[in-house]
Amino acid sequence: MEKTKDLFKKCIDFTLADEVKAQGVYPFFHPIDETEGPVVSFGGKRMVMAGSNNYLGLTAEPKVKQASIDAIKKYGTSCSGSRYMTGTVKLHNELEEKLADFFEKERCLLFSTGYQTGQGIIPTLVQRGEYIVADRDNHASLVAASIMAQGAGAIQVRYNHNNMADLERVLQSIPEAAARLIVSDGVFSVSGEIVDLSGLVALAKKYNARILIDDAHAVGVIGRGGRGTPSEFDLVDDVDMIMGTFSKTFGSLGGYVVGDRSVINYIKHNAASLIFSASPTPASVAAVLASLEIIKDQPELTEKLIANTDYVRQGLLKAGFTLMPSRTAIVTVLIADQMKTLIFWKKLFDAGVYVNAFIRPGVMPGHEALRTSFMATHEKEHLDKVIMEFETIGRELGVI
Ligand SMILES: Cc1ncc(COP(=O)(O)O)c(C=O)c1O
Repeated sequence: MEKTKDLFKKCIDFTLADEVKAQGVYPFFHPIDETEGPVVSFGGKRMVMAGSNNYLGLTAEPKVKQASIDAIKKYGTSCSGSRYMTGTVKLHNELEEKLADFFEKERCLLFSTGYQTGQGIIPTLVQRGEYIVADRDNHASLVAASIMAQGAGAIQVRYNHNNMADLERVLQSIPEAAARLIVSDGVFSVSGEIVDLSGLVALAKKYNARILIDDAHAVGVIGRGGRGTPSEFDLVDDVDMIMGTFSKTFGSLGGYVVGDRSVINYIKHNAASLIFSASPTPASVAAVLASLEIIKDQPELTEKLIANTDYVRQGLLKAGFTLMPSRTAIVTVLIADQMKTLIFWKKLFDAGVYVNAFIRPGVMPGHEALRTSFMATHEKEHLDKVIMEFETIGRELGVI
């Protein structure tokens, strides 16, 4: 009889992380001692944070911190239950109303993370025999949500990244009677590139598809008053559902979707990731409420963010780096070699600049990159340091 295979053999055989650690260039899970936003400290050493999604710097904003503290005093540290049951406090409903209003949609629904938001929307709406039409570069959470939907009989078809001719080819291949949802990031998370929303909306109309845009990296960055991608293109009414996260511009934790009343009501009463998971903590929700007021009252923060990012982008281009196409708060430097990416990351880290290393499985071989992202609260001296260290190390490693 054949011997039963050990489930854990794959774990014992997984040596990549240990090998990278042994070479002293492991770029993940480094604990920050303290953070002010644009500057953080590691083991007592101060560093420029150039890899956070805290785009408007709101995690360090006193009003946002105070709102969380006040909410803890009033409601405690957790709701200890799902929104569906005993886990709704007034703050949840207040935030849903204010976000629906901000994003100019009828209704909003909160989730406990952005990741769970996709898991709540896609498998709930796209059912057996119905189609998910997805950009190949969509965020991993949307990919996971589609896999879940496929497990229940939905069909996924993918089109080449932001390629409207390929999207049309894919839409034409779907049986005419089948319901379909086009899913795309608004601002792509690795590159910072913006979706061709005009093209996507035109095709959705032509082929009777509904649209879901994940605007995690767009809010506070693009669009009227930081309202994101549909607003940037003046197409809010043409995008059926807009989802996002609170873990970036909103300086908190959680996710949301906005859309028509009937759609949000259906998701609210059927989404497993909402019904079977505890609601966002009062502290998280209160932080978002405070952040939302700041986003509305201080549009100059978005202007500063874009100016900061443009400044770094121009500096790195002038130094000779190859950047991925972006005009958002993400500047991704292509290195195209795994080991060189890790060494570059470590040298930046040692020089006091903290960025993100993207290697497999995050990106395909040949697309290894250093992803930087900026905040409205970065000062010129921080940005100059980032450019200067990139240039010095880039020359040393022969990248430029
Ligand atoms: C495009 C996109 N969608 C969803 C998420 C998940 O959001 P959260 O961190 O709230 O789970 C992220 C976070 O990285 C993201 O970039």
